[in-house]
Amino acid sequence: MSEGGGADLYAALAPIYDDWQASDGMTPFALVTAARLAPVLEREAAAPAPLPRPFSFLEIGCGTGTLLGALRAAQPTWRLAGADASAAMLGVAAGKPGLRRVALARARLEQPLPFARGFDVAGVFYDTLNHLADPPALARAFAALSDVLRPGGLLVFDVTNLLGFERWWRGRNEFSGRRWRISVDARFDPTSRLGRAEVTIAGEERARSFHLIERYLSSADIRGGLTSAGFTVERTEGWAPFTNDVEGKTWWVARLGPKS
Ligand SMILES: C[S@@+](CC[C@H](N)C(=O)[O-])C[C@H]1O[C@@H](n2cnc3c(N)ncnc32)[C@H](O)[C@@H]1O
Repeated sequence: MSEGGGADLYAALAPIYDDWQASDGMTPFALVTAARLAPVLEREAAAPAPLPRPFSFLEIGCGTGTLLGALRAAQPTWRLAGADASAAMLGVAAGKPGLRRVALARARLEQPLPFARGFDVAGVFYDTLNHLADPPALARAFAALSDVLRPGGLLVFDVTNLLGFERWWRGRNEFSGRRWRISVDARFDPTSRLGRAEVTIAGEERARSFHLIERYLSSADIRGGLTSAGFTVERTEGWAPFTNDVEGKTWWVARLGPKS
């Protein structure tokens, strides 16, 4: 990888990402997430808030914008925004008619985010946090998120947990669509806590391979980062996003305390 966060990989994946996510009868992960997230957001939107409406939500690692599109369709009056490290993934999002009124920005999570403070809720989903290099980068990411939320705002995210790395990051998986093939050869090393995958993408051009690294983040790493950024954990629980599969994700909800 020439940049962090799998930038080259996501540049190559972007044009086929939505097709891949819906291939072989799969429900795109972003829609599985949207179904779990919607009631959380609806509760927050209904609660008394110190700031004038509209209710606002920011997703970091929004990729091709599928989750934001589902929210926009269900909640036309909410203020929605998204950011991602990959220009190519954002380019796909920006081309979707349903996302015309969604502010999109290119940004890396572990750096200050290009949004003013004031969002009611921020979300980070589908392994985005597992892409970060180490616990200090995670702590910087939580600090950046705390800077864009209003005091009392909510942070919701999922991470792949140990069970998920052991179950999903092993062996080869193949996916194919009408004009593309993706193969993922993955392994997880519990000592270094790193998942490594060779992702090969074949389309109309020659096949290209990319090396993706994701990190298992322990609950202690996550709690430590949240606390130092001023968050209080409200909820943490195992989540099985796929039917008849393990709770390989952990779903976290944390609230930002008042700024000192
Ligand atoms: C597995 S994809 C998930 C995309 C989308 N959330 C979904 O559910 O389809 C992970 C996304 O995180 C983005 N990403 C990786 N590292 C990032 C970082 N440090 N800051 C912001 N985005 C990042 C990638 O560009 C990619 O779009």
